Amino acid sequence: MTGFPVAWLDLREPADIKARDKSLAIQALQWLQKNNPNQGKILVDLGSGTGSSLRALSSLSAENIVWRLVDNDGDLLDEALRRHGKDLIIEDYEADLNIVNELPLSGSQLVTASALFDLASREFVDELKNRLTKQNTALYTALNYDGTTEWIPTHPLDDKVLDIFNRDQTRDKGLGPALGPEATDYLQSVFQSAGYEVFIASSPWEITPKDHALANELIQGIANAVTENIDSVELDAWKEFRLANIHNGNCRVGHLDFLALPKEIN
Ligand SMILES: C[S@@+](CC[C@H](N)C(=O)[O-])C[C@H]1O[C@@H](n2cnc3c(N)ncnc32)[C@H](O)[C@@H]1O
Repeated sequence: MTGFPVAWLDLREPADIKARDKSLAIQALQWLQKNNPNQGKILVDLGSGTGSSLRALSSLSAENIVWRLVDNDGDLLDEALRRHGKDLIIEDYEADLNIVNELPLSGSQLVTASALFDLASREFVDELKNRLTKQNTALYTALNYDGTTEWIPTHPLDDKVLDIFNRDQTRDKGLGPALGPEATDYLQSVFQSAGYEVFIASSPWEITPKDHALANELIQGIANAVTENIDSVELDAWKEFRLANIHNGNCRVGHLDFLALPKEIN
């Protein structure tokens, strides 16, 4: 089994697609078109999984693009190729994002990611910025968790659970100490300092009773993440209440989308 099973990525994708800020995504694609009207366009998607960014951007008329997908999970890349290899030009790279200097970014005008940068470290962002600024490449990264999760109906332990969960979000998930909810703030400060023009938009999951399968996985995931740092009786009570409400409650999970454009050519 992979760290990010296809079933989980498929379960979250409809909520991601609905949540992604379309204006920002279109702005990224328009920048790509405007600044490279007569040349082949290469877009690199980091931590691509099965191609969720590719699907989201293709639905917004991203055309004539070479999609360079990078992931360290060969099974996910194979699935991306199985789904899109006949219709789109895909270059798949099985690579570790930790080795930033070896990432296949050469010739790319736009680097993208989704649901990735909250897993990433400051060091990763710094090193990526160094590579992108050298070649005037833009960065568009969607669905970075922002640390907010609001439930209806509320439960007295919601704030406590969220606090512990957000601390867990900064644990090393394989890319160094994770930025977690600070991801977008850090991206903003690094890329602004590098002279990029930066844009941020809100992209929350709005989970309603018809998304009960996603709510169920979210609750299990939160409970697993906090279990070592909360009294088990409290956690059981919170989890039981949350699961009992997935067919009649709502949840809003905050995310932010981020776009950084090199100033001299935007
Ligand atoms: C939360 S998933 C997001 C996948 C996809 N972008 C999406 O939105 O469905 C994070 C992705 O990053 C990849 N990943 C995590 N750590 C990685 C690393 N060190 N090197 C390369 N890929 C990595 C995982 O395999 C997974 O596909």
